[in-house]
Amino acid sequence: SPPEQPHRTAFHFQPPQNWMNDPNGPMYYNGVYHLFYQYNPSGPLFAEHMYWAHSVSHDLINWTPLDIAIAPTEPFDHISCWSGSATILPGNKPVMLYTGIDSENRQVQNLIEPKNLSDPYLREWVKYTGNPVINLPDGIQHDDFRDPTTAWLADDGKWRIIVGSQKDKKGIAFLYQSEDFVNWSMHESPLHEVAGTGIWECPDFFPVWVDSTNGVDTSVMNSRVKHVLKVGLFDYQKDYYMIGDYNFVNENYVPQNELTLGTLRYDYGKYYASKSFFDPVKNRRILLAWVNESDSEADDVAKGWSGLHSFPRSIWLDKNQKQLVQWPIKEIETLYENEATVENKNLEDGSSHEILGITAWQVDVKLSFKLTNLEEAEKLEPSGVDPQLVCSEMDALKKGKFGPFGLLALASHDLTEQTAIFFRVFQNNGRYIVLMCSDQSRSSTRNGLDKTTYGAFVDIDPQQDEISLRTLIDHSIVESFGGGGKTCITARVYPTLAIKDEAHLFAFNNGTESVLITELSAWSVNKARINTEENVGRAN
Ligand code: FRU
Repeated sequence: SPPEQPHRTAFHFQPPQNWMNDPNGPMYYNGVYHLFYQYNPSGPLFAEHMYWAHSVSHDLINWTPLDIAIAPTEPFDHISCWSGSATILPGNKPVMLYTGIDSENRQVQNLIEPKNLSDPYLREWVKYTGNPVINLPDGIQHDDFRDPTTAWLADDGKWRIIVGSQKDKKGIAFLYQSEDFVNWSMHESPLHEVAGTGIWECPDFFPVWVDSTNGVDTSVMNSRVKHVLKVGLFDYQKDYYMIGDYNFVNENYVPQNELTLGTLRYDYGKYYASKSFFDPVKNRRILLAWVNESDSEADDVAKGWSGLHSFPRSIWLDKNQKQLVQWPIKEIETLYENEATVENKNLEDGSSHEILGITAWQVDVKLSFKLTNLEEAEKLEPSGVDPQLVCSEMDALKKGKFGPFGLLALASHDLTEQTAIFFRVFQNNGRYIVLMCSDQSRSSTRNGLDKTTYGAFVDIDPQQDEISLRTLIDHSIVESFGGGGKTCITARVYPTLAIKDEAHLFAFNNGTESVLITELSAWSVNKARINTEENVGRAN
């Protein structure tokens, strides 16, 4: 029998074995969700020759694996097939653009289409014989040009895409236009560029409603939308985003927040190379991302696999129009088993409350804290403060006034192992500041793991709103959503004691001020059928 794999997940997307990174070309087509991903079929580490693996689903929860969709075979992708995106053309015809590394080691953009549109699973993909459709631009280095987006169509009949690049450390989103999806020309100015940020990978560009949590199809442009530009900064392995106004007539994109390292991120933990798509059935925009391992390459070789995808999230513009909000898709409820609830539980200084009656290593937990006597909060002048640093210095054991309070996930009985997701509340000139942390420093008794603590501020006012936390816990991943999804932090952890029935879940308070849990619900989450052998036959 295969060796025990306590860190493989139960409801997060991953292949049965080997290396996986970016989600590629996610789309909904004729009743089926498609997910492709960067895959190395020959081993658990990233490799020179990358492929597009392919899975399909009817519910974004259970996934059936299909054959490899794109392999490096042609001069225009001879070395590797890198990330790309789907576009559904008029007449309901899906196509993909992806980056090929050609036989001369240059990054170029290629077009593929399904071989047979009447195959409900679109198993086979055909490379356009005129590839590449976009060549490396003059003056750009051979390995600095990749990851085409989903295209958007404007009223002038032209499709647009952006492609990530850099020149002299200036991150660039090159803009291309086409009338037929085959002949593309570069627009004279990039959609956006920011000096000093390094190469932009996996850009994403999409509209969000200013007044609704629904999703918006990628080509919609009107006064009710703003446009999000997300870029992955390779040098930092983090996804940053801007919110702004886009005008296709002069191809002008004006972000209301400029990209700097301290600004808005999708997730303040481990979360990269994300991609969104519009789900027309449920009228929402869904976000997927690669969540890399925090263990060593030697561990990955021993496990035989590396990489997960985050649980799919709906994404929309917050009503303050200053940031995005993310929330796990509601289909997770189809996996719920037993529920545990707590109401009106006061947590005094140094106390914890074990959440019993659920499977603590496979659980979805939501709770809300109510604070009184806020005028007692400690002072913090937030400008210039790096929240991640505050979280690392003031970890889950450092007593404050309001906080640390939150959850201890994947905790061993004696708390030797624990991943602490917690808040601290400070005040500054009559304003309150909420800090959210995910402290991995005690997540495993093992050494040689990246146990970095993550942190970010949550833009809520604890005078008006309770402080809510939702955390998805799945063996080796802990995805947390603070303030109803305003601040997200994902972590990878490798407990050795807190596995299976030995894993526990607690609410805790290490602050001197007591906090009230107004309500708490936790659900055990059943195992989904994700790329498992028994699922293979289902597509037939
Ligand atoms: C992001 C990335 C992309 C590239 C792919 C290669 O993680 O580096 O820029 O297309 O991965 O697998």
